[in-house]
Amino acid sequence: MYIAQCVLVVTAIHVGVVHSWDIAISVKDRLIFYTDEIKTSTISLISRNPTSLVYDEVHNMMLYVDKQNNNDSVCGYDLSSKYNKCFVKREGHNIHGLAFDPVTERIFFTDTNESSINWFSLKPGYNNSDYGNLLIKINSYETTPTDIAVDSCGGYVYWTHNISNIDRARLNGSERGLLFAHGFKQYSIVMDPQTQNLYYFDICASCSDGPARGYLNKKKINSAGEGVLLNHFYGSEWRSRVLTVSKDYLYWKNSTGSYDAIWRLSKNAAQHVEPTEINKIYDDKILGITAKYKIKDQVQGVEDCDSLSSLIPTLVEFPDYIGEQCNVSACDNYCVYGNCSINDDGLPKCRCNAGYLGERCEVNMCYNYCLDDGECSLNEEDEPVCQCAGNNVGPRCEADISDTTPTNDLAKRNLTLADILSIWRKPSSKMYLTVEV
Ligand SMILES: *[C@@H]1O[C@H](CO)[C@@H](O)[C@H](O)[C@H]1NC(C)=O
Ligand SMILES: *[C@@H]1O[C@H](CO)[C@@H](O)[C@H](O)[C@H]1NC(C)=O
Ligand SMILES: *[C@@H]1O[C@H](CO)[C@@H](O)[C@H](O)[C@H]1NC(C)=O
Ligand SMILES: *[C@@H]1O[C@H](CO)[C@@H](O)[C@H](O)[C@H]1NC(C)=O
Ligand SMILES: *[C@@H]1O[C@H](CO)[C@@H](O)[C@H](O)[C@H]1NC(C)=O
Ligand SMILES: *[C@@H]1O[C@H](CO)[C@@H](O)[C@H](O)[C@H]1NC(C)=O
Ligand SMILES: *[C@@H]1O[C@H](CO)[C@@H](O)[C@H](O)[C@H]1NC(C)=O
Ligand SMILES: *[C@@H]1O[C@H](CO)[C@@H](O)[C@H](O)[C@H]1NC(C)=O
Ligand SMILES: *[C@@H]1O[C@H](CO)[C@@H](O)[C@H](O)[C@H]1NC(C)=O
Repeated sequence: MYIAQCVLVVTAIHVGVVHSWDIAISVKDRLIFYTDEIKTSTISLISRNPTSLVYDEVHNMMLYVDKQNNNDSVCGYDLSSKYNKCFVKREGHNIHGLAFDPVTERIFFTDTNESSINWFSLKPGYNNSDYGNLLIKINSYETTPTDIAVDSCGGYVYWTHNISNIDRARLNGSERGLLFAHGFKQYSIVMDPQTQNLYYFDICASCSDGPARGYLNKKKINSAGEGVLLNHFYGSEWRSRVLTVSKDYLYWKNSTGSYDAIWRLSKNAAQHVEPTEINKIYDDKILGITAKYKIKDQVQGVEDCDSLSSLIPTLVEFPDYIGEQCNVSACDNYCVYGNCSINDDGLPKCRCNAGYLGERCEVNMCYNYCLDDGECSLNEEDEPVCQCAGNNVGPRCEADISDTTPTNDLAKRNLTLADILSIWRKPSSKMYLTVEV
């Protein structure tokens, strides 16, 4: 019986501190970040009741509406400097929808009290009013704009109302008109540059012809017709922005009696494909949700979006930070014998120096490789080779030429992780392994 004591190196990445993320949500007083389905970090905010969460990649900032005490503000949490700043304040008003245009660096928001669409520039040195700048005033006897989305490629803002149509206008407010009038009432509109789709919920909250029902719809902005992604899907809490789009998925918030959850559906899902519930939150209400949808992914395969494409070289690749003060790079001390970089998912990745293996390049290929005092070195392919001592021969000096049984006698050896990996790397190797726990 062969006994190998195998030391497994488990590399744990810190959880509960700021580093990479794919989606983020806002709850009462915090932002919570997730990679895949794993919670990666939490940030406490000074603000309360942050809604309409939107990620601004240009400034690496989480934008949101602070609903504290009916004094609605448009604020941003800078993920690099950890600095929170409020830009717009509207006492007693309801700031509802929020969208960001990376090209003009403008935040667009709707005010349901005065039925207006407004903007605020994040360009350094821009002289904004802290009330925001008016883009479009809609006569309040007409309609009230609710949510808003920006098409940075085409240069339009799109908005939903308290009636069933979606309107649009140029980013300077001109050419205001109807995109389409159809369906029930639309909420939570988001724009996806990559597919040129608007995604939104279309909800019938009090229907004369049946129970309350809703759809998750998509609409290609420059073609007729509308596509329904999900059909007959019931829910009551649709009035805030609770939908976001990423490279591959749509994510949204759904409430049940006992918890709030993040749901996910592929952007290319066929109609009636069931979405997946990916995270449950029991002790807080999800108020906002946003995906980290990088501009380079937004324009992937899109030919005529110069406005966004030309931004890409100017974007700073912000490192992903960890540590209680969020001031330590995820790469710090990560790779033991190798160079570190942050991959597309924001996780540290190692390129190992010659002679090292493992997730963190922590395994010396020579460690315990050559048996019986054999000397280990690397060959031209950077593989370990042995110079054997005494009567020993074999790739790992495992055989004694004076021994009558010429087998690879690994039996008496204590194998290390490097041994196991090196045996695995040789296709002809046979080994028997009993792991003692
Ligand atoms: C709103 O803000 C103003 C001034 O910033 C403050 O005086 C007022 O008390 C606030 N309202 C509430 C309800 O907190
Ligand atoms: C704004 O609307 C909210 C409800 O939507 C209302 O409570 C508030 O009084 C309004 N404020 C003003 C200044 O009209
Ligand atoms: C900024 O705008 C305000 C109001 O429009 C004006 O009074 C002020 O002089 C401007 N400041 C600068 C530095 O341009
Ligand atoms: C939409 O809002 C406006 C202004 O608040 C109001 O006059 C109108 O009746 C509302 N329309 C519907 C269909 O609720
Ligand atoms: C508004 O923008 C459109 C398209 O970007 C442009 O054609 C138009 O001249 C602009 N209007 C004003 C008043 O600046
Ligand atoms: C919300 O959750 C309920 C209960 O899990 C489910 O029946 C419903 O389909 C969900 N709705 C949405 C919009 O995800
Ligand atoms: C991070 O912040 C902590 C606490 O302020 C400090 O002790 C530590 O030296 C900082 N680390 C770096 C790498 O700046
Ligand atoms: C690590 O970085 C150094 C300095 O840039 C470089 O010389 C070396 O080749 C790199 N090593 C690997 C394994 O990429
Ligand atoms: C293997 O390890 C055990 C426990 O550490 C030790 O007692 C034993 O002598 C080792 N055997 C060899 C062949 O090194």
